Amino acid sequence: MKELGYYNGTIGELDAMTVPMNDRACWFGDGVYEAHMCRNYRIFTLDEHVDRLFSSADMLRIRVPMSKDELKNLLCSLVRKMDTGDLSVYYQVTRGSGKRNHAFPKGSANLWITLTPREMNLSKEPVGLITAEDTRFLHCNIKTLNLIPSVMANQQAQEAGCYECVLYRPGGRVTECSHSNVHILKNGVFYTAPRDNLILPGITRAHLIAACQRLGIPVKEEPFTVEELKAADEIFTSSSTRLCARACRVDGQNAGMRSPELFNALHDALTEEYFAATDA
Ligand code: PDD
Repeated sequence: MKELGYYNGTIGELDAMTVPMNDRACWFGDGVYEAHMCRNYRIFTLDEHVDRLFSSADMLRIRVPMSKDELKNLLCSLVRKMDTGDLSVYYQVTRGSGKRNHAFPKGSANLWITLTPREMNLSKEPVGLITAEDTRFLHCNIKTLNLIPSVMANQQAQEAGCYECVLYRPGGRVTECSHSNVHILKNGVFYTAPRDNLILPGITRAHLIAACQRLGIPVKEEPFTVEELKAADEIFTSSSTRLCARACRVDGQNAGMRSPELFNALHDALTEEYFAATDA
Protein backbone atom coordinates (compact mmCIF):
# COMPACT_ATOMS: atom_id res chain seq x y z
CA MET A 1 0.00 0.00 0.00
CA LYS A 2 1.09 3.57 -0.60
CA GLU A 3 -0.54 5.40 2.33
CA LEU A 4 -2.42 3.35 4.87
CA GLY A 5 -5.34 4.30 7.04
CA TYR A 6 -6.68 2.09 9.84
CA TYR A 7 -9.80 2.76 11.88
CA ASN A 8 -10.97 0.21 14.47
CA GLY A 9 -9.93 -2.74 12.32
CA THR A 10 -10.85 -1.32 8.89
CA ILE A 11 -7.85 -0.81 6.63
CA GLY A 12 -7.66 1.08 3.34
CA GLU A 13 -5.72 3.59 1.29
CA LEU A 14 -5.69 6.73 3.44
CA ASP A 15 -7.49 9.03 0.97
CA ALA A 16 -10.36 6.58 0.66
CA MET A 17 -10.91 6.17 4.42
CA THR A 18 -13.82 7.85 6.20
CA VAL A 19 -14.53 8.09 9.92
CA PRO A 20 -17.81 8.54 11.81
CA MET A 21 -18.74 12.14 12.59
CA ASN A 22 -19.51 11.23 16.17
CA ASP A 23 -15.95 10.16 16.96
CA ARG A 24 -14.92 12.28 19.96
CA ALA A 25 -11.95 13.56 17.94
CA CYS A 26 -14.46 15.57 15.87
CA TRP A 27 -16.31 17.11 18.81
CA PHE A 28 -13.61 17.80 21.35
CA GLY A 29 -10.25 16.66 19.97
CA ASP A 30 -10.78 14.19 22.80
CA GLY A 31 -7.85 11.84 22.35
CA VAL A 32 -4.12 11.21 22.55
CA TYR A 33 -1.57 10.42 19.87
CA GLU A 34 1.96 9.43 18.96
CA ALA A 35 4.05 10.16 15.88
CA HIS A 36 7.40 8.59 15.04
CA MET A 37 9.50 7.04 12.32
CA CYS A 38 10.05 3.69 10.68
CA ARG A 39 13.06 2.81 8.52
CA ASN A 40 13.60 -0.46 6.64
CA TYR A 41 10.24 -1.67 8.04
CA ARG A 42 11.66 -1.30 11.59
CA ILE A 43 9.79 1.11 13.83
CA PHE A 44 12.20 3.27 15.83
CA THR A 45 11.67 3.64 19.61
CA LEU A 46 8.38 1.74 19.45
CA ASP A 47 8.33 0.67 23.12
CA GLU A 48 8.90 4.19 24.40
CA HIS A 49 6.19 5.73 22.21
CA VAL A 50 3.63 3.07 23.07
CA ASP A 51 4.44 3.54 26.79
CA ARG A 52 3.90 7.30 26.44
CA LEU A 53 0.60 6.78 24.57
CA PHE A 54 -0.68 4.64 27.44
CA SER A 55 0.49 7.15 30.02
CA SER A 56 -1.19 10.06 28.15
CA ALA A 57 -4.37 7.96 27.89
CA ASP A 58 -4.25 7.11 31.62
CA MET A 59 -3.98 10.77 32.57
CA LEU A 60 -7.19 11.45 30.58
CA ARG A 61 -8.96 8.28 31.77
CA ILE A 62 -9.09 6.93 28.20
CA ARG A 63 -8.80 3.14 28.01
CA VAL A 64 -6.70 2.10 24.99
CA PRO A 65 -8.74 -0.67 23.32
CA MET A 66 -5.90 -3.22 23.32
CA SER A 67 -2.78 -4.13 25.29
CA LYS A 68 0.62 -2.56 24.63
CA ASP A 69 1.85 -5.78 23.00
CA GLU A 70 -1.24 -6.05 20.82
CA LEU A 71 -0.78 -2.46 19.64
CA LYS A 72 2.93 -3.00 18.89
CA ASN A 73 2.16 -6.21 16.96
CA LEU A 74 -0.58 -4.45 15.01
CA LEU A 75 1.72 -1.56 14.06
CA CYS A 76 4.49 -3.96 12.99
CA SER A 77 2.07 -6.01 10.89
CA LEU A 78 0.60 -2.91 9.18
CA VAL A 79 4.07 -1.59 8.35
CA ARG A 80 4.74 -4.81 6.43
CA LYS A 81 1.84 -4.03 4.08
CA MET A 82 3.56 -0.91 2.80
CA ASP A 83 5.39 -0.39 -0.51
CA THR A 84 8.25 1.32 1.35
CA GLY A 85 9.65 0.67 4.82
CA ASP A 86 10.56 4.34 5.36
CA LEU A 87 7.47 5.76 6.99
CA SER A 88 5.88 8.16 9.36
CA VAL A 89 3.92 6.09 11.89
CA TYR A 90 1.04 8.01 13.45
CA TYR A 91 -1.66 6.69 15.77
CA GLN A 92 -4.30 8.19 18.00
CA VAL A 93 -6.80 6.86 20.48
CA THR A 94 -9.98 8.86 20.90
CA ARG A 95 -12.41 8.51 23.79
CA GLY A 96 -15.03 6.71 21.70
CA SER A 97 -18.16 7.81 19.89
CA GLY A 98 -21.42 9.48 20.81
CA LYS A 99 -23.57 12.54 20.19
CA ARG A 100 -21.95 15.76 21.32
CA ASN A 101 -21.94 15.77 25.11
CA HIS A 102 -19.05 16.73 27.37
CA ALA A 103 -19.60 13.73 29.65
CA PHE A 104 -17.74 10.57 28.66
CA PRO A 105 -19.61 8.38 26.14
CA LYS A 106 -20.37 4.73 26.82
CA GLY A 107 -18.49 2.17 24.77
CA SER A 108 -14.87 1.69 23.95
CA ALA A 109 -12.20 4.02 22.62
CA ASN A 110 -11.37 4.28 18.90
CA LEU A 111 -7.97 3.52 17.40
CA TRP A 112 -6.78 5.38 14.33
CA ILE A 113 -3.48 4.62 12.56
CA THR A 114 -1.88 6.20 9.51
CA LEU A 115 1.31 5.12 7.74
CA THR A 116 2.72 7.51 5.15
CA PRO A 117 6.05 7.47 3.30
CA ARG A 118 8.59 9.73 4.95
CA GLU A 119 12.29 9.77 5.74
CA MET A 120 13.86 11.04 8.92
CA ASN A 121 15.28 14.54 8.51
CA LEU A 122 18.93 14.24 9.60
CA SER A 123 20.07 17.54 8.11
CA LYS A 124 22.71 19.55 9.93
CA GLU A 125 21.74 22.64 7.93
CA PRO A 126 20.99 25.34 10.55
CA VAL A 127 17.47 26.69 10.82
CA GLY A 128 15.79 29.88 11.99
CA LEU A 129 13.55 30.09 15.05
CA ILE A 130 11.08 32.67 16.27
CA THR A 131 9.80 33.09 19.81
CA ALA A 132 6.22 33.61 21.01
CA GLU A 133 4.35 33.46 24.27
CA ASP A 134 3.20 29.96 25.22
CA THR A 135 -0.57 30.31 25.36
CA ARG A 136 -1.25 26.57 25.68
CA PHE A 137 -2.95 25.00 28.68
CA LEU A 138 -1.24 23.54 31.74
CA HIS A 139 -1.25 19.87 30.71
CA CYS A 140 1.44 19.96 28.03
CA ASN A 141 2.93 16.73 29.42
CA ILE A 142 -0.08 14.91 27.94
CA LYS A 143 0.18 14.31 24.18
CA THR A 144 -3.40 15.29 23.34
CA LEU A 145 -5.00 16.09 20.00
CA ASN A 146 -5.81 19.65 21.14
CA LEU A 147 -3.07 21.48 19.27
CA ILE A 148 -4.54 24.82 18.16
CA PRO A 149 -1.94 27.07 19.89
CA SER A 150 0.82 24.87 18.43
CA VAL A 151 -0.71 25.09 14.96
CA MET A 152 -0.88 28.89 15.22
CA ALA A 153 2.70 29.14 16.54
CA ASN A 154 4.07 26.87 13.82
CA GLN A 155 2.27 28.81 11.09
CA GLN A 156 3.81 32.01 12.48
CA ALA A 157 7.25 30.37 12.20
CA GLN A 158 6.56 29.19 8.64
CA GLU A 159 5.46 32.67 7.61
CA ALA A 160 8.68 34.10 9.05
CA GLY A 161 10.66 31.58 6.96
CA CYS A 162 11.63 29.68 10.12
CA TYR A 163 11.52 26.04 11.19
CA GLU A 164 10.08 26.37 14.65
CA CYS A 165 8.56 28.69 17.21
CA VAL A 166 10.13 28.66 20.69
CA LEU A 167 7.42 29.13 23.30
CA TYR A 168 7.89 30.98 26.58
CA ARG A 169 5.64 31.53 29.57
CA PRO A 170 5.07 34.96 31.15
CA GLY A 171 8.37 35.95 32.76
CA GLY A 172 10.32 34.55 29.84
CA ARG A 173 10.82 30.90 30.83
CA VAL A 174 11.29 28.80 27.69
CA THR A 175 9.11 25.69 27.65
CA GLU A 176 9.42 23.95 24.27
CA CYS A 177 8.47 24.54 20.62
CA SER A 178 5.28 23.98 18.63
CA HIS A 179 6.18 20.37 17.84
CA SER A 180 9.61 19.78 19.39
CA ASN A 181 11.62 20.27 22.56
CA VAL A 182 14.37 22.88 22.66
CA HIS A 183 17.76 22.74 24.37
CA ILE A 184 20.85 24.91 24.70
CA LEU A 185 24.56 24.39 25.25
CA LYS A 186 26.37 26.99 27.35
CA ASN A 187 29.98 26.67 28.53
CA GLY A 188 29.95 22.95 27.73
CA VAL A 189 26.75 22.24 29.73
CA PHE A 190 23.52 20.90 28.18
CA TYR A 191 20.43 22.74 29.50
CA THR A 192 16.88 21.56 28.91
CA ALA A 193 13.60 22.54 30.55
CA PRO A 194 12.65 20.24 33.45
CA ARG A 195 10.02 17.55 32.96
CA ASP A 196 6.87 19.10 34.35
CA ASN A 197 3.37 19.94 33.15
CA LEU A 198 4.67 22.66 30.80
CA ILE A 199 6.51 20.38 28.38
CA LEU A 200 6.06 17.09 26.59
CA PRO A 201 8.59 14.59 27.93
CA GLY A 202 10.16 14.09 24.50
CA ILE A 203 11.57 10.71 23.65
CA THR A 204 14.33 12.30 21.57
CA ARG A 205 15.03 14.59 24.55
CA ALA A 206 15.55 11.50 26.73
CA HIS A 207 17.92 10.04 24.11
CA LEU A 208 19.84 13.34 24.01
CA ILE A 209 20.25 13.31 27.79
CA ALA A 210 21.53 9.71 27.60
CA ALA A 211 23.93 10.71 24.80
CA CYS A 212 25.24 13.61 26.94
CA GLN A 213 25.86 11.17 29.78
CA ARG A 214 27.81 8.82 27.45
CA LEU A 215 29.82 11.75 26.04
CA GLY A 216 30.57 13.28 29.44
CA ILE A 217 28.55 16.45 28.77
CA PRO A 218 27.01 17.74 32.05
CA VAL A 219 23.19 17.96 31.94
CA LYS A 220 21.04 20.51 33.77
CA GLU A 221 17.29 19.98 33.58
CA GLU A 222 16.56 23.55 34.65
CA PRO A 223 14.37 26.37 33.35
CA PHE A 224 16.12 28.93 31.12
CA THR A 225 14.85 32.17 29.64
CA VAL A 226 14.55 33.52 26.10
CA GLU A 227 17.43 35.85 26.91
CA GLU A 228 19.59 32.91 27.98
CA LEU A 229 18.57 30.99 24.87
CA LYS A 230 19.59 33.89 22.64
CA ALA A 231 22.99 34.12 24.40
CA ALA A 232 23.65 30.34 24.30
CA ASP A 233 26.60 28.74 22.49
CA GLU A 234 24.25 26.34 20.68
CA ILE A 235 20.48 26.11 20.38
CA PHE A 236 18.73 23.06 18.97
CA THR A 237 15.37 21.39 18.84
CA SER A 238 14.61 17.68 19.10
CA SER A 239 11.74 15.52 17.90
CA SER A 240 11.03 12.07 16.57
CA THR A 241 10.78 13.28 12.98
CA ARG A 242 13.85 15.56 13.00
CA LEU A 243 16.18 14.29 15.69
CA CYS A 244 18.20 17.49 16.14
CA ALA A 245 17.72 20.79 14.32
CA ARG A 246 20.45 23.35 15.02
CA ALA A 247 19.49 27.03 15.06
CA CYS A 248 21.56 29.89 13.66
CA ARG A 249 18.94 32.66 14.02
CA VAL A 250 16.39 33.58 16.66
CA ASP A 251 13.86 36.35 15.98
CA GLY A 252 15.93 37.45 12.99
CA GLN A 253 19.20 37.83 14.95
CA ASN A 254 22.24 35.56 14.61
CA ALA A 255 22.44 33.13 17.52
CA GLY A 256 24.16 29.92 18.64
CA MET A 257 26.66 28.17 16.33
CA ARG A 258 29.53 28.60 18.80
CA SER A 259 30.11 25.02 19.93
CA PRO A 260 30.14 22.93 16.74
CA GLU A 261 32.11 20.00 18.22
CA LEU A 262 29.58 19.37 20.98
CA PHE A 263 26.60 19.86 18.70
CA ASN A 264 28.06 17.50 16.09
CA ALA A 265 28.87 14.91 18.74
CA LEU A 266 25.24 14.90 19.92
CA HIS A 267 23.78 14.94 16.41
CA ASP A 268 26.08 12.06 15.39
CA ALA A 269 25.25 10.07 18.53
CA LEU A 270 21.51 10.23 17.81
CA THR A 271 21.98 9.53 14.10
CA GLU A 272 24.11 6.46 14.84
CA GLU A 273 21.53 5.19 17.29
CA TYR A 274 18.80 5.63 14.68
CA PHE A 275 20.73 3.79 11.97
CA ALA A 276 21.83 1.01 14.31
CA ALA A 277 18.26 0.37 15.48
CA THR A 278 16.75 0.42 11.99
CA ASP A 279 19.35 -1.29 9.81
CA ALA A 280 17.84 -3.84 7.45
N1 PDD B 1 5.98 16.22 18.04
N2 PDD B 1 7.11 18.82 22.23
C1 PDD B 1 6.00 18.83 21.49
C2 PDD B 1 4.96 19.86 21.77
C3 PDD B 1 5.82 17.87 20.46
O1 PDD B 1 4.70 17.88 19.72
C4 PDD B 1 6.84 16.93 20.21
C5 PDD B 1 6.71 15.87 19.15
C6 PDD B 1 8.01 16.98 21.00
C7 PDD B 1 9.15 16.02 20.82
O2 PDD B 1 8.84 14.77 21.35
P1 PDD B 1 9.47 13.43 20.73
O3 PDD B 1 10.94 13.57 20.79
O4 PDD B 1 8.96 12.37 21.62
O5 PDD B 1 8.97 13.31 19.30
C8 PDD B 1 8.10 17.93 22.02
C9 PDD B 1 5.63 15.20 17.07
C10 PDD B 1 6.80 14.73 16.28
C11 PDD B 1 4.47 15.69 16.24
O6 PDD B 1 3.53 16.21 16.82
O7 PDD B 1 4.50 15.53 15.03
